[in-house]
Amino acid sequence: MVLNFAHRGSLTEAPENTLSAVKKALSHGAKAIELDVQLTKDGELVVIHDHHLKRFTKETTKLIKELTLEEIKQLDIGSAFSQAYEGETLATLSEILSVCPSEVLLNIEIKNIPVIYQGIEEKLLYCLEKHQRIDNSIVSSFDHAALQNLQNLHSEIKLGMLFYYRILRPWEYIQNSGLNVYSFHPNIVTVDKEMIKASHDAGLKIYPYTVNEMTSYNALMEAGADGVFSNNPHIFAM
Ligand code: G3P
Ligand code: CA
Repeated sequence: MVLNFAHRGSLTEAPENTLSAVKKALSHGAKAIELDVQLTKDGELVVIHDHHLKRFTKETTKLIKELTLEEIKQLDIGSAFSQAYEGETLATLSEILSVCPSEVLLNIEIKNIPVIYQGIEEKLLYCLEKHQRIDNSIVSSFDHAALQNLQNLHSEIKLGMLFYYRILRPWEYIQNSGLNVYSFHPNIVTVDKEMIKASHDAGLKIYPYTVNEMTSYNALMEAGADGVFSNNPHIFAM
């Protein structure tokens, strides 16, 4: 089955990674949604891509790790997208999990670079267990050490290994990593047919990111990709 992930929720229709963006994606029938997580100063999991809020508000230049959840919840991050979203705040992961039906697959990306959040793996596992979300989630990261930490804590959690650069034979790197990786998430510009075949031969699902054009999507499907991360998933079959 092909699975197309709504990247940061439906980010063309609502502020990315927010409850509104997730609800929009669900309203389009999304079967899979991608989100980014980080830790606040007081150790709460919040859903955001950047390590600061500069794209969303002028009220602070502090890093996410320098702000408490209470401080973050005072900040309107919706108005920068549209007045229709005035008053929208960052969501906690827990808030988002509360509105996501269990049949929707979540890809939760640990946004660990350049900031490294010590202990984020334990907190994420605790949150997923509390919401009975272990089976229907993939946890991904560009920080492969974080994936190793996760596997050490929970041998069954599905791991998604993200790559930005075009490295040689990444499927071999994954197989030699000692990790039980479920899926390989390459940058779309690095993907070719050989990569897709070799990934499948290595027992991996392959979900390239970020695929927004129909032509590149169709080429990936023809080559056998298992799905994509997309800012426009509603133009593909979700
Ligand atoms: O998980 C795919 C994609 O989200 C990775 O890149 O920078 O959009 O988080 P980025
Ligand atoms: Ca991401």
